[in-house]
Amino acid sequence: MPVIALVGNKGGAGKTTLAVNLAVGLARQAGSAAILDTDPQGSSAQWRAISEDTALPEVISASDDPGSRVRSLGGEYDYIVVDCPPSVQAMQTRTILRFSDLALIPVQPSPFDLWASVHIEQAVQEARTHNPGLRALLVINQLEPRTTLSQLMRDALSEIDVPVAVTAIRRRAVYRASALEGRSVYAMGRRGAGAVEELDQLIEEITRQ
Ligand SMILES: Nc1ncnc2c1ncn2[C@@H]1O[C@H](COP(=O)(O)OP(=O)(O)O)[C@@H](O)[C@H]1O
Ligand SMILES: [Mg+2]
Repeated sequence: MPVIALVGNKGGAGKTTLAVNLAVGLARQAGSAAILDTDPQGSSAQWRAISEDTALPEVISASDDPGSRVRSLGGEYDYIVVDCPPSVQAMQTRTILRFSDLALIPVQPSPFDLWASVHIEQAVQEARTHNPGLRALLVINQLEPRTTLSQLMRDALSEIDVPVAVTAIRRRAVYRASALEGRSVYAMGRRGAGAVEELDQLIEEITRQ
């Protein structure tokens, strides 16, 4: 039961968007996945609540007791995807990092957003004293369509001691549209095809090791 945590220091980075869509993609590939929503804002749980699609992964709200909830899920699911609050100092994030196999850190392709994630590197190091197997990976999210990363962004990325996923997630209207409908991009037909392709590539990348 690998645990994949979406963490970061900024709201709007894409933690919830990636948590729900990765959970759907992982469930399609592996058989089952659940979302543990540890953000007191409860966005993943709200997304699930407005959804009419009963085939979506279960969302378990756990902002009060994230440690005991993640432990108690034991062997129930093939993957647990954890949506965290927008702070690495938050109790929920610190607790979850101790129980995670992988910390996925979405960042928008702006040096300011990237510099805000420097503290995440420290939080990951701290968590590794209890959880030495913890891996961490930055994921560029909301990359402008048909563009590549600027040199400024590449320079900023190289200063951070966390590897960057080869797969970047592009800015696509379908991520927003699907969320508004309580769906994942996997349920959006042809409109979701580009998003599905990049998510499946990211899943391939993170489950390969
Ligand atoms: N790749 C993307 N393309 C377009 N919109 C996105 C993308 N990723 C996130 N968004 C939108 O950006 C906003 C913030 O994303 P969200 O996942 O809620 O961030 P967080 O959970 O980190 O605060 C949401 O409205 C979401 O629909
Ligand atoms: Mg969120």
